[in-house]
Amino acid sequence: MSKAATQLARTKSPVPPGWRKEVESVLITDAQLARRVRSLAREIERDYRGREMVVVSLLNGTVLFLADLIRHLSLPLRLDFIGVSSYGAGTESGELVFTKELRLDVRGRDVLLVDDILDTGKTLSRVIPKLRALKPQRLKVCVLLDKPSRRVEEVAADYVGFKIPDVFVVGYGLDFAERYRNLPFVGVLHPHVYKQVNQSVAKPVRRR
Ligand code: XMP
Repeated sequence: MSKAATQLARTKSPVPPGWRKEVESVLITDAQLARRVRSLAREIERDYRGREMVVVSLLNGTVLFLADLIRHLSLPLRLDFIGVSSYGAGTESGELVFTKELRLDVRGRDVLLVDDILDTGKTLSRVIPKLRALKPQRLKVCVLLDKPSRRVEEVAADYVGFKIPDVFVVGYGLDFAERYRNLPFVGVLHPHVYKQVNQSVAKPVRRR
C-alpha cells in the first residue's frame, strides 16, 4: 500500500459555473489531482527503475489518469489495455464482461496494472488472477481512488492516489451512464441526476 495515499480533507472548492446544475460538490480539485499524480509517478519510478515496464490499463475510466501518470514516468515502458465492462444500471455494478484482451506478452515482465477506482474489489479480483496466469515477473497495482469501506473482495492496491469515502464519484475519467468523464476534477452529482438515470434505465447498459 502506498504510504502517501492521500487522505482527503474536505475541499471548499466551488463547482465551476458550467457544471453547477449537475454537480453538487468537488471532492478532489484539478490541482490536487495534478500534484498527487506527479508524486505517484515518482513512487513508481523509484520501484521500477532499471527495467522496461509494461503498463496495463483498464478501459475506459483510466484514460485521463493514465495519460497524466505515464507522461510523468521517465522510464522505458510499453502500454496495453484490458477492456472490462460492468453491465448494470446506473450506480449499481453488474456482471463483468471482458471486451478487450491484452495483446502484449507480459511473461517475465515488470507489469503495472492501472485502474481508476478500487471499490468493491470485484473487478480487480477477476483481473489480477488473469494477469498472474500470464506469469509476469512482477505485478503491482495502481489506482487513483480507493473506497475501502465498500470492499467485498480481499484486494489491495500497491499505489493509491486518494482514499475516498463511500460516495459515487464522477470526473477525471469516471462516468455516470457514460457522462461526466471530461470533468477536470472528481466530484459528486446532485441526487436528482442519479435518480433520473437510474429510473430511466430499463435495460442493462454498459457502464465502464
Ligand atoms: P469494483 O466495485 O469492481 O469497481 O471495485 C470497479 C469499477 O466500478 C466502477 N466504479 C465507479 N465508477 N464512480 C464511477 O464513476 C464510482 O464512484 C465508482 N465506483 C466504482 C469503476 O468503473 C471501477 O473501475
